[in-house]
Amino acid sequence: MTFQPLAEIADIGRDRELGGWSRHLLDPADRALREWFVGRAQELGLQTEVDANANIWAWWGEPGPDSVVTGSHLDSVPGGGAFDGPLGVVSALEAVGRLRSTGFVPRRPLAVVAMAEEEGSRFSVACLGSKLLSGALPAERALGLRDRDGFSLAETLDRAGLAPERAGRDPGALSRIGLFVELHVEQGRGLIELDSPVGLASNILGHGRWRLVFDGEGNHAGATRMQDRRDPMVAAAATVAAIPAVAMAHPGSRATVGRVRAVPGGTNVIASRVEVFLDARAEDDLLTRRLVHEITELAAARAAENGCSSRLVEDSWLPTVHFDPAVREGLADALAPGFGTVPVLPTGAGHDAGVLSEYVPTAMIFVRNPSGVSHAPAEWASAEDCWAGVDALTAVLTAHLAAR
Ligand code: GLV
Ligand code: MN
Ligand code: MN
Repeated sequence: MTFQPLAEIADIGRDRELGGWSRHLLDPADRALREWFVGRAQELGLQTEVDANANIWAWWGEPGPDSVVTGSHLDSVPGGGAFDGPLGVVSALEAVGRLRSTGFVPRRPLAVVAMAEEEGSRFSVACLGSKLLSGALPAERALGLRDRDGFSLAETLDRAGLAPERAGRDPGALSRIGLFVELHVEQGRGLIELDSPVGLASNILGHGRWRLVFDGEGNHAGATRMQDRRDPMVAAAATVAAIPAVAMAHPGSRATVGRVRAVPGGTNVIASRVEVFLDARAEDDLLTRRLVHEITELAAARAAENGCSSRLVEDSWLPTVHFDPAVREGLADALAPGFGTVPVLPTGAGHDAGVLSEYVPTAMIFVRNPSGVSHAPAEWASAEDCWAGVDALTAVLTAHLAAR
């Protein structure tokens, strides 16, 4: 059985080349999804608005202080799964639809939000919409970010009819949020092992993105003898091959290279530069820093061995997030009648909820993912568990909207 609310958007952004779905900020797939979201929200009688940071809000009631906000993101990683992001958005619409159809009268405003560019797949900074909104990322820095085709974020917002000069910290939007709840598919094996359809988040591993940039000498693949080369690809490859051992020496930490860029990138060209995109995470921020430091030293050694140089560029960083236990308790109480004691678990994945938790009361609900796979087409959740997620979100919204 498929989860019908997600099946509705399954054809948008399917990636025939990579498999799965590719939906990146304001590309045709993302624009189609955003239009679909606005249409569905309006069918439910919600008032929609797009803020200056490209986040879309759908309001039930007059936007104002102490609002309950729920939602997630519609964008994906390249060739990603169908659930990471959209599950939280469609579940929020379903929950609101249910409440409205029963004649429920909220005592606080409610908004369903679709946050922009959570995955950072286009502009390389994760949680772009929430980081801009909260001021965690200054607009001056963000607007100059460029995608793989060289377009800046400023140009991209401008082309979409949004005013880049208005992008950035939005104290008005932030001050309206009295509670933010993000429902999300679980991305590891946590809820499989806990044998539960839903769970609540305790913490998010601190994580960031870095680039190891190796510079060498661009040259001819046929005319340059092996002993005469300064090949940054060889230095980069040797570094990447040694990274797992560095991370495994720090139990619980994770280091991943999922993307490499060779410049200029010709089969018969020795690269002049190679950029290795590093994602590193750990529960302890000092440990993450140490891990990245050790990998940087490793890169320097492999670069020197190959007559190259190396340097580290930090693209983004989000410290470990511990969600407020009092807010989580409020959700647990709302869930108790229908679900009993709901398990609490950490996540290694980043979320807009993690960014926003520093500014507003925030909690997360996870839905079991029996595949244990995420950021890949095999990511999955059963329809039964997705509906359990909608039940859970409905219970949480009911409890929080009924009281002020
Ligand atoms: C986003 O899903 C991330 O964890 O990078
Ligand atoms: Mn993701
Ligand atoms: Mn996500």
